[in-house]
Amino acid sequence: MKTMKLGKTGRDVSRIGLGTWSIGGGSAWGGDHDLQTVVDTIREAPKAGVNLIDTAPGYNFGNSERILGKALEQMNREEIVIITKCGVTWDQEMKGDLFNKVNGIQLYKNLNSASIKREIEGSLERLGTDYVDVYMTHWQSVEGSEYYVPIQKTMDVLNELKAKGKIKAIGAANVDIHHIEEYLKWGDLDLIQVKYSILDRGIEEEIIPCARENGITVQCYSPLEMGLLSGKMPRDYKPVGAQIPKKWFQPENMQRAMDVMDEWKPLCEKYNCTIANLALGWILAQGDFLNLLSGASKVEEIRENVKSAELELDPEDVAMMRNMVEDLDK
Ligand SMILES: NC(=O)c1ccc[n+]([C@@H]2O[C@H](COP(=O)([O-])OP(=O)(O)OC[C@H]3O[C@@H](n4cnc5c(N)ncnc54)[C@H](OP(=O)(O)O)[C@@H]3O)[C@@H](O)[C@H]2O)c1
Repeated sequence: MKTMKLGKTGRDVSRIGLGTWSIGGGSAWGGDHDLQTVVDTIREAPKAGVNLIDTAPGYNFGNSERILGKALEQMNREEIVIITKCGVTWDQEMKGDLFNKVNGIQLYKNLNSASIKREIEGSLERLGTDYVDVYMTHWQSVEGSEYYVPIQKTMDVLNELKAKGKIKAIGAANVDIHHIEEYLKWGDLDLIQVKYSILDRGIEEEIIPCARENGITVQCYSPLEMGLLSGKMPRDYKPVGAQIPKKWFQPENMQRAMDVMDEWKPLCEKYNCTIANLALGWILAQGDFLNLLSGASKVEEIRENVKSAELELDPEDVAMMRNMVEDLDK
């Protein structure tokens, strides 16, 4: 597995991390999985060279963290770089700006210091650890909203948690460049987590240059567009849960994306790899300033996906793949 430095921390991390959004189960997160299957998937990660695992309390009300905690009982904790998040809660006492409602339970967005201090304790308990490696704000506070918290205030509490050793580094997800600039004013920001796939390259213009300039690792989520770019969905696939509103799951778009994947088949033969490997390998080929989170929920998936890091795609093929998807935007 190829590795890279995590921001300015000096810590080596694998260029492919394991994402546990779906592992936590729950109707809004793709449905429940067999517990042993997902625990085995997490335990497979270090065997496959993956030392980076992402979770969040907001993934099925703490269940993703709980399952990761269970898997960690029989793993070497020190070997794993655990990322978890703050800012999405179901704390009915603390409340916050309204986020999703799942099975009648209201989720809130809240980045104030009292809420974060409560959240970190909950995460540490569920994960069964006394520190997290990267603590990340999950969604950014919206100026003008009732529970708006300036980044400076959020950074105050994150810096405090860092000084106490409860968190080792700070990250921020779903940011624009103004957020990044603001975080950097108040401390170290080592990681940003943003959506990036070959079909959704919106971060290329501003966010990637800004992160590179400031030595921040870019971590890409949904690199397979929630499974679409695995190349394994049938033409008549019916999107479920969180896939339903997504651009690339709209019937016409999905067929066009599938047409492009059909055109990748000669590349699969050339590199002796799968469609998923090409989609992930294309991201890794953009440069070693980024890594990606692969949302595998089965041992076979993680074994397949890590092979993407070994692909050495020719620059002409990387460019050709870009041309093919750019045609989709016309
Ligand atoms: N910060 C944020 O706001 C945010 C948002 C979204 C995601 N994330 C993080 O990023 C991670 C990755 O995002 P994502 O889950 O959307 O990633 P993804 O890799 O685009 O999609 C994951 C889904 O693809 C399917 N899949 C993966 N490998 C496969 C393979 N080899 N063959 C067939 N199907 C395969 C799996 O479906 P099945 O489970 O059905 O097998 C999996 O649930 C998440 O798990 C989460 O940790 C963060």
